[in-house]
Amino acid sequence: MTILSLRGIEKSYGPIQVLHGIEADVEEGEIFAIIGPNGAGKTTLFKVMTGESYANAGTVTFDGRDVTNEPPHLRTRAGMGRTFQVARVFNPIGTADNVITAIESRKRAQGVRDAPWWAIRPSVTTSEEAMQLLDGVGLADKAAMVASELSHGDRKRLEIAMTLAGRPRILMMDEPTAGMSSADREQIGALIRRVMAAGAGDGRRMTVVMTEHDMSVIFGLASRILVMNQGRRIALGAVEEIRNDPQVRDVYLGKEDQRLEEPA
Ligand SMILES: Nc1ncnc2c1ncn2[C@@H]1O[C@H](COP(=O)(O)OP(=O)(O)OP(=O)(O)O)[C@@H](O)[C@H]1O
Ligand SMILES: [Mg+2]
Repeated sequence: MTILSLRGIEKSYGPIQVLHGIEADVEEGEIFAIIGPNGAGKTTLFKVMTGESYANAGTVTFDGRDVTNEPPHLRTRAGMGRTFQVARVFNPIGTADNVITAIESRKRAQGVRDAPWWAIRPSVTTSEEAMQLLDGVGLADKAAMVASELSHGDRKRLEIAMTLAGRPRILMMDEPTAGMSSADREQIGALIRRVMAAGAGDGRRMTVVMTEHDMSVIFGLASRILVMNQGRRIALGAVEEIRNDPQVRDVYLGKEDQRLEEPA
């Protein structure tokens, strides 16, 4: 089943067109990766999917509904969770408090009230859910730390926990491993696999859409890959197809750090 569909997406910034007729269908339950060199249009396409930017032409369909002109918060409410290229966590408060805030915001949006309005502390169910989410991303032992003291990799984990607190059906991530050590990148890859295995609740499958620079992360993780170059789709397919695609090879040729070989 297609969960997210892009048809004829065009996007310009002023006189400069940065997306040219992008077509893609994301299937429920897959890890869909968008790759391409710097400036290829990955983030721009990502923003068109999340509603942070609007396309000049084309349609975005999410879960059978045309969301092309819907703002981000409506897409979030419909089950689209996202992280940012630079992690957005509320630094000055505790790691667990950040997740608690995210859970409470979901409950408010759903009209769930499990604590009186004057309560200072979160409800027991909220606290327990926060600990489960932190445990799921490997941060249980850092729950009491102030978020700004977390390492870069741990902040990304926290951001993922906060996004999962919204109970999304699709998790959208723009370069989740940007600026990380290779060990941290491996761990984020493993975390994404665990998130997929855990599902989206109510027996539904989780879907991930991510952009990525690092080929070794992607080839070990993605179900299918969309390759972009200069605002155009140059390939879309399973890992093996992409690895053997001559046009894709051309685009990456000579880029020592982005070889299309199997990671060592
Ligand atoms: N707000 C903006 N205003 C004008 N031009 C922009 C804007 N955002 C992006 N661009 C341009 O659009 C093109 C695509 O940029 P985009 O950020 O989508 O690429 P990317 O594939 O995400 O690159 P990177 O790998 O560096 O993250 C680039 O030429 C960029 O300079
Ligand atoms: Mg980008």
